[in-house]
Amino acid sequence: MNHKWMSQLPLLLAVIVSGSANAAIKIQDWGKGPEAEQAKLITLESSSLRVQLTNYGARIVSVEAPDKTGKRADVVLGHANLQQYIDDPKDYFGAIVGRYGNRIAKGTFSIDGQTYHVPPNNNGNALHGGPDGFSRKMWSVITGTDSAEFTLISPDGDMGFPGMLAVHVRYSLHGNRLDIEYSAQTTKTTVVNLTNHAYFNLAGEASGDVLQQRLRLDANRYTPVGDTLIPEGNLPEVAGTPFDFRKLTAIGERIGADDTQLKRAGGYDHNWVLNGRLGLLHEAAFAEERVSGRTLIVLTTEPGVQFYSGNFLNGSVTGYSGLAYQQHAGFCLETQHFPDSPNHPSFPSTLLKPGETFRSHTALIFGVSNGAR
Ligand code: GLA
Repeated sequence: MNHKWMSQLPLLLAVIVSGSANAAIKIQDWGKGPEAEQAKLITLESSSLRVQLTNYGARIVSVEAPDKTGKRADVVLGHANLQQYIDDPKDYFGAIVGRYGNRIAKGTFSIDGQTYHVPPNNNGNALHGGPDGFSRKMWSVITGTDSAEFTLISPDGDMGFPGMLAVHVRYSLHGNRLDIEYSAQTTKTTVVNLTNHAYFNLAGEASGDVLQQRLRLDANRYTPVGDTLIPEGNLPEVAGTPFDFRKLTAIGERIGADDTQLKRAGGYDHNWVLNGRLGLLHEAAFAEERVSGRTLIVLTTEPGVQFYSGNFLNGSVTGYSGLAYQQHAGFCLETQHFPDSPNHPSFPSTLLKPGETFRSHTALIFGVSNGAR
């Protein structure tokens, strides 16, 4: 039984179990949010994965995946209960971040000659939608037999963004694949950039750092950043730099290199420009941990991925198993449009107009390998 919901047993008001040959779903009450909104804990289970989600931040709480011997471990970082998620505004464990995931310089951008301001919450910049972004909202949820769809109505002016935005994020589980499909519509022209902020550790949550885990990114270029991690605007080649992950490479192999970009971010915290065609689901990343044999494939329709090596984890936050998360305890692969796109007309546009539908799709495939790949 999973500790995350065992600790909440007294709060269980309703348990609904339904199922099909391929997947089962369970929905439990999981306490109340800051404004007494009802939080839910939703468990999707297939033959190979057990995924827990909550409507607080429309987030992934856990993903239990088998190793090469069939032994399961939770391969994402997370907290033990709702209150710990509420009390942690800076790590975004498993959350959907928005309305604009990643950074907007000084929280300021213009649309059609009008300037908008999002309150800065990260070194003078707006990060992940500002201090009260989508990760801190209680979303509504409807469930199917193998899926949960979260909805949020972000009002006109929410965190300074123009237009009322209706956002839907649907997670669905099929075998060893978790699909995340996003859509959004607005009443005024606005900017949208949505991603999931799961931290992966393929050896298991709280098993130590991820520096030996290996990563491949299908990207020839990346977006270097200035001192406050805002892109400088150029898209240099990764060739010959510690940012070249075109071949499977250990995350820690070059993380300590004498490189200005790595020093600015305290490790990897950059956006890679994916080679695949924008809008077509393509492989962005592959990761593996050799001892367990666990692998992860990330497919996306997005043009970029922020690979973040958990640089700001410093032992001050405790995971659900009661152990502190030290630096590099997990890595994020945030499929997205490029950071600060509203201020970089040359980057793929993040504008959404009334009458249009924003769509984005990312899939996470958890497997095992014999190390041959
Ligand atoms: C993103 C950012 C990082 C960091 C994390 C959360 O990945 O790029 O700089 O803020 O979120 O800690």
